Amino acid sequence: MELKAIDLSELTKKIDPIVAARNNWYLVTAAAEGKVNTLTAGWFTLGNNWEKKIATVFIRPQRHTKKFIDASGRFTLTFFDGHQDALGYLGTHSGADVPDKIEKSGLHLTEVDGLPTYTEGRYVLFCKVLYSQPIEEKCFLDPAFATATYPDKDFSVQYVGEIEAAYEIIG
Ligand SMILES: Cc1cc2nc3c(=O)[nH]c(=O)nc-3n(C[C@H](O)[C@H](O)[C@H](O)COP(=O)(O)O)c2cc1C
Repeated sequence: MELKAIDLSELTKKIDPIVAARNNWYLVTAAAEGKVNTLTAGWFTLGNNWEKKIATVFIRPQRHTKKFIDASGRFTLTFFDGHQDALGYLGTHSGADVPDKIEKSGLHLTEVDGLPTYTEGRYVLFCKVLYSQPIEEKCFLDPAFATATYPDKDFSVQYVGEIEAAYEIIG
C-alpha cells in the first residue's frame, strides 16, 4: 500500500464536501487502548474555521465508536470507491455487539501515523478533536426539523476536528 500526501488546500479537489458523504458514505474510525472501532457516516462538513482546516462529524451518543473518539481525541475519515456492502454492514452493526465487525466486513485495517484506516480506502483524513459539543434540541429554530431529524431525541455530538494530514491511498 502506498500513500500520497494531499495538500490540504487542494483537498476539495479530491473530496467534494457536498456530495462525497451522501453518495459514497465514509468511515469514522478511532483507536483507544489497543482496540479500533468504526462507524459508517453520511453527514460531515469540511472547511476552514479558527484558521484551521476542519472536518466536523456528527456522532449519536449511543455509538460505540464515540467512546473511542472521546478516549483518544482523534479520529480518521476514510473515503472509498465502492465497498458499499462493507460500509452498509459497518453502518448497521455495533462494535458493542460485534467486537470483530471490521474483520467481518471484509475490510482490512492498517495503521498510518499511528492512526487507523483501511487498505481498501481511497482517501483518508487524520483529525484531532478541537471541540466537541452535544447538539441541543432548544437550539433548533424550527422544532419540526429537530423532530424529523432526531425522532428518538438521540441528539448527536458534533466533533470539530482539525485535519492534520490527508492522504490518497494507492493500491
Ligand atoms: C449511510 C449511513 C450513514 C450513517 N451516518 C451516521 C452519522 O453521521 N452519525 C452516526 O452517529 N451514525 C451514523 N450511522 C449509523 C452508524 O453507522 C451505525 O449505528 C453503526 O452501527 C454504529 O456502530 P458503532 O456502535 O460500532 O459505533 C449511519 C449509518 C449509515 C448506514
